[in-house]
Amino acid sequence: PQNVGILAMEIYFPPTCIQQDILENFDGVSKGKYTIGLGQDCMAFCSEVEDVISMGLTAVTSLLEKYKIDPKQIGRMEVGSETVIDKSKSIKTFLMKIFEDCGNTDIEGVDSTNACYGGTAALFNCVNWVESSSWDGRYGLVVSTDSAVYAEGPARPTGGAGAVAMLIGPDAPIAFESKFRASHMSHAYDFYKPDLASEYPVVDGKLSQTCYLMALDSCYLGYCQKYEKLQGKQFSMADADYFVFHSPYNKLVQKSFARLVFDDVARNASSVDESAKEKLGQFTSLKGDESYQNRDLEKASQQVAKPDYDKKVQPGTLVPKQLGNMYTASLYAAFASLIHNKTSSLDGKRVMMFSYGSGLTATMFSLYLTEGKSLFSLTNIAKVMNVEHKLKERTEFAPEKFVELMHVMEQRYGGKDYVTSKDTSQLAPGTYYLTHVDSKYRRYYAKK
Ligand code: ACO
Repeated sequence: PQNVGILAMEIYFPPTCIQQDILENFDGVSKGKYTIGLGQDCMAFCSEVEDVISMGLTAVTSLLEKYKIDPKQIGRMEVGSETVIDKSKSIKTFLMKIFEDCGNTDIEGVDSTNACYGGTAALFNCVNWVESSSWDGRYGLVVSTDSAVYAEGPARPTGGAGAVAMLIGPDAPIAFESKFRASHMSHAYDFYKPDLASEYPVVDGKLSQTCYLMALDSCYLGYCQKYEKLQGKQFSMADADYFVFHSPYNKLVQKSFARLVFDDVARNASSVDESAKEKLGQFTSLKGDESYQNRDLEKASQQVAKPDYDKKVQPGTLVPKQLGNMYTASLYAAFASLIHNKTSSLDGKRVMMFSYGSGLTATMFSLYLTEGKSLFSLTNIAKVMNVEHKLKERTEFAPEKFVELMHVMEQRYGGKDYVTSKDTSQLAPGTYYLTHVDSKYRRYYAKK
């Protein structure tokens, strides 16, 4: 099979959200801390009737319906998530209900978990399957679904929620350049979830930022080396049209792109102009940790990067800025923003993708885009995802109500024998929701 990649996409996120400027005010932090300091506009969260399983069910059924895919045509389904609902039973098995009802139980794949990286692992598994000798000619389906919630404190405004479903197969408008990809994996305690009684992570915010940037450097250098070895010519940022990043919050995306600009200066890439060399050259002698902590370097590189940021990064930031961190779905929601904003003009463009999961696992890979045909075209994918409409149809919560909900969810976490509120008025028709959890912890869902 040729040009294996993403044929179709759907995104789903809860209609419930809170504005970051209102949250700033409520939390009593300085004005601009979340909106400018973190670069976030709004944060989505699951109300008590939604969770990662219901969001997955909604995204998958909507994708199958809107792209007219017979459920029997799915041969592999992989789920990426770091939201633990059950320590044994995979989220994938909950989603099987859709396929069983159509007589298809022959579907490989389970869940992949490592912080925000699970979606990428799931995606690679599906792409590799289609490219392998065990491929049976059917489609792969990837589901990234997460609900990111943090304890009260500085990390809370970096929460978010959402799910992305992607159909995988040959002759895709979004094709993998599978030969060019580089990973960086190591052992770190930057963000982890050791307390099984709580949904909240333990997080060392500063360390997680440094780990993210170090992994980015390592993956980018690795990517360049592999490209150069295979293509016999140098790779630099000028060779890519767009950059999409895992987006815990937008400020880190701004810093990441600036870091890549600095990396090109440090590696003396031929595409780097004189003015960039002049402004950033002085910092190339900084060693290791020093270069990640240096504020002058950070400022100077962000300034040099700004015009390219607006062109190559900004189109892929809308959804993460509006929803917050969707963990495994974050990178793919950022990519969905790019398709939403640029649609068919992406024909013939290369998009760099950077996936990061704390703990830590990271990969940089690239996609080559073509307009495609009919249902499987960039134009149609943008139309189906209908991002603008979904964003507009949301209901804003007051911060008091949001905090109250967080308390309810804390009580419920890992619990049994409860019925959720019957209020589904905020959900769009076709949305799945949690109705109750019985005395044996079994979960029940219904479709609105
Ligand atoms: N106006 C404008 N900017 C402001 C204001 C203000 N009033 N107040 C603060 N800021 C800026 C700060 O200068 C800082 O900017 P900088 O990063 O350019 O220095 C930024 O806002 C953040 O403020 P800090 O005080 O540095 O950090 P804070 O204590 O608020 O914590 C953090 C931020 C660490 C991101 C926290 O929210 C967190 O731990 N989040 C979860 C971890 C995370 O997302 N890590 C990313 C990778 S791992 C993953 O994906 C989960």
